[in-house]
Order: sequence, then structure tokens, then C-alpha cells
Amino acid sequence: MGLSRRSFLHRLGAAGGYGAAYSAMLAMGLMAAPARAAAPSLEPAVGRGRKVLVLGAGIAGLTAAYELERAGFSVTVLEARDRVGGRNWTLRNGSKVEMVGEATQTVSFSDGVYMNAGPARIPSHHDGVLGYCTKLGVPLEVEINSSRSAYIWDGDSNGGRPIQMRQGVNDTRGYISELLAKALNRGALDQELSPEDKAQLMPFLRRYGDLNGEMRFTGTLRSGFSALPGAADQYGAGRPPLPLKDLLANDQLAATLFEDQLYMQATMFQPVGGMDQIPAGFQRALRSPLILNAEVLQIRDLPAGVAVAWRDRTSGRREVAQADYVVVTLPLNILAKVDTNFAKPVKQAIASVPYDYSNKIGFEAPRFWEKQQIFGGISFVGGETSLVWYPSNDLHSARGMLLACYGSGPRAKGFAEKPLDEQVAIARAVVGRLHPGHEGELEKPVVVNWSKIPFNLGPWPAFGGRGGQEGHIDDPAYKLLNQAHGRVYFSGAHLSQMPGWQEGAVLSAWRSVGMIADRVGQSVAVEPGRRAAA
Ligand code: ALA
Repeated sequence: MGLSRRSFLHRLGAAGGYGAAYSAMLAMGLMAAPARAAAPSLEPAVGRGRKVLVLGAGIAGLTAAYELERAGFSVTVLEARDRVGGRNWTLRNGSKVEMVGEATQTVSFSDGVYMNAGPARIPSHHDGVLGYCTKLGVPLEVEINSSRSAYIWDGDSNGGRPIQMRQGVNDTRGYISELLAKALNRGALDQELSPEDKAQLMPFLRRYGDLNGEMRFTGTLRSGFSALPGAADQYGAGRPPLPLKDLLANDQLAATLFEDQLYMQATMFQPVGGMDQIPAGFQRALRSPLILNAEVLQIRDLPAGVAVAWRDRTSGRREVAQADYVVVTLPLNILAKVDTNFAKPVKQAIASVPYDYSNKIGFEAPRFWEKQQIFGGISFVGGETSLVWYPSNDLHSARGMLLACYGSGPRAKGFAEKPLDEQVAIARAVVGRLHPGHEGELEKPVVVNWSKIPFNLGPWPAFGGRGGQEGHIDDPAYKLLNQAHGRVYFSGAHLSQMPGWQEGAVLSAWRSVGMIADRVGQSVAVEPGRRAAA
């Protein structure tokens, strides 16, 4: 056959667009279904002679600019901040945190200590982001998202003492296994299970719960030592199990399942040195003009092109940029305030989407948690501060950044309304109760209330009033904004099923680039994803 598979797909893409090529690949067995989306594979001349403006240099804008540039488009990126990355933002010594209505905070962390104010972990199925890390030369390391040495703690159950994660997980499992075994022995599940199923389930339950020969849970070494084994006659001993009622009374017990959420499962990654190494990699790779401090004031979609008026925030100078198309990655709540000539339903859709709330508070401290065998992972504490997240970078070094609050949703709204000092005091007190004696070692607090961060004013949208980093989003506003409108393409994590993940930004940008390439009448084919979907 003279036609290679790749060129066949290119031709099919040219005739039928991205969707046709994708379906054909499924049919040809080139993708395991469900398959990952993949970067549009565009010929380098697709965009020759066409100009695209990209508004916003967060992950979506950078991805769109990078791919459009590779496809021969003439690209200009406008970014309101003095840095690229958007929500991908790493704070280090000297970083300034400006928030609406608050005094500017200047970070004074020691060398090597940093805080990812926005995204801080990448799941292993997020091939888009991970793929760019490889392409852009951004080294990755493991982000340790859970530790069995960390805690669940709700302030008052279990006599106010935290429960170590390994004990919460394994004692609960032991009791549930015992209860299930009792029910089986009493014949309570005879309608549901055949005698063979029962015969096979019993030995499994014994292993699952670490039950004794009578199918009773009397404690398990999986839950930790009470005496460490040592040399000669130093015998190890397990901890007595916690009473089931103390486990159930802990309102953080369900957090033992956090690490089982698909988006949170090992192995997760982070760039070495801070999440902002990703936008830095894009910035290194881009050859197109990327104008910082360029605040978009006005967008005009015109019959023959687009015109974007912007203001240089350093000089106050006003300029107008023109192009054939514009990719708009501004958060919807920010875009709602820009003067546009979009059709009324589009403007209404943009204005209809509220934004969620999210807060992070970081401290620098000596790594006291590592002396408790906590290397990365998270303690779940509930309340306004939600969790304590331990650093995965530079383990066994002297100092690190302890994230003493990361909460989102309605509770985060009320918390962000408190004065910064009070927020810090609350977070400090929680760490002090979780790790008694270490409160005073928490230094150099930094508060990030995303609802007050200029050019974001929120972490992610709450379509239909529901916040969330990911989900099944199919609101009318979402659907409308995912379409092209004139020469305008909206793009960003907010237009993906993962508004709170960088992968959403990448996938949305790929989609916009694919739509623009389709429109200019060139072939659009897709490459098989690197791996099957998780
Ligand atoms: N996806 C982000 C997280 O990991 C928001 O918490």
C-alpha cells in the first residue's frame, strides 16, 4: 500500500477534521478506547500567513502559542502579569503576593524553600502536561501525595489525639472485615453470595482485615509498632487497635480514602524546583512575541479580523493588536469585565459563571515532621484549613515549606474574609495541636487567597454554582463557550472537564488549536496518545 498510515490520517483529517481522524484511529485499533486526546499534529505550514493573538500566558495560552507557532502561525501573546504561568505560580524568596484589599506580602523563604501557590501535583495520567515537561526539558520528581505516617485529626474525637493514617486505614479495614465475616457466618448474605463465593471470600477477608483464626480483628502490625523490633531479644509489638467507635467518631476518617481518588493516586509528579518550571520551559521555547504587563481592555471581533486593545501596565500606554483569530484564555470572571462586542448570549454566558474560593497558607520550618517519619503526604484536619501538606522536595534537608492550609469551597470563602493575621494564627494553631511543641517553629507565613489574586479572583469556575477541580461539566454556558464565536476561540482549564488541573488547560488549548487549523482548511490529524487512559 502506497499510503502510509500517517499520511492517510492526515488526508482524512483534511477531509473530515479532527473528529474523523480520531474515529478512524479508534477503528484502526491505533488507540485503546477510551483514549487520551493528543496534540494536534499539524504540518508546519498550516498557519502560514495567518496571525493569531493569544490572550493570557497561563498553561492554556502557552500551550496554544507553542502549538500554533509550530504550525507556522504568526503568534503574539499578551499577558497582564509580569510573569508567565497564570495560576501556575511558585513563591520563593523575594516573590510578592498582591491581593485585592490586602497589604502586599513579600516572601522571605530561605534558599531552596518554595511554595507552589497554585497547582502542586500532576497525576501520572496527565500525559499532556507530562509530555510538555519532557519536550521542554523540565525535570520531574515524585510528588508524594500520601503518607501512612501522616494523620487524620478532627480536633476532638479519640481524646483530641490525631490518628495515624496507617492505623486509621488498617484498623477500619480490620473491623469491617470482621463484621462482614460475622454476617457471612450468620447466613445474612446467603441471598447475595453462592456457597462458592462465600468459601472464597472468607480467606480473602482474613487477609484483607488481618483477622485471627476465629475471624476476629484483634489489631494488626499494619497499623504500626508500639515497640520497635531491634537486636537480640528486643521484640517488636504492634499497637492495640483503636476502638471502632473512636474511628467512626473521627470526621476525617473518609480522608483515609483520599489517595484512592483517581486524580490523587500514586504516582504523582512535580517539577524539580517548583511548578513554575513548566511555564519557564514554555517561555524558553517560544520564539513569538510574548508581551508581559499587557492588560487586555477591549476585544473586537470584526468581519476581517480581530482587534484587541491593551494597556501596558508599566507605562500606561495603550495599544491595539490585530490578527485573524484570537484565543482568549482569560478566566471568565475576568473576561466578563473586558469591553467586547461578543453576541449577547456569549456575554451572558461569560457573566453567568461564578468562581470558587481556595486558600493556601505556607510556613517555612525545620523539618520536624520528618522526625516523625512523615516524608511528603498530607494530614487531614478538616475545618477551615482542611489539611497539612508536607513537602516532597529535598527530603532530609534542614528546612522546608509546610502547607498549613489548603481549603476550597464555601468554607474557604468565609476563611478568606478573615484578616490575614487571623488566618495565619488559625493555621499555626492547627499545626501546633497536630504536632505539639512545633508551633513556634513555623516562620515566614504566606497567605494566598485566590479569590483576591488580581487577574484570577478565584481558583476555578463554579459552573451551575458547583465548584470543583474536576467533574462532569455540561452546563449551557460551558457548551456555548466551547464553540467558536466569529474569530474568537475561548480556551482554558475552565473549558475542560478539569478546571482545577493543568491538564485541562492543555487539552482545551489543543482543542482550540485544532479548531483554528480546521478552519484554515489544512489537514489536522492526531497522533496516538502515548498511553491508554487511566
Ligand atoms: N487539582 C488541584 C489539586 O491538586 C487543585 O488540589
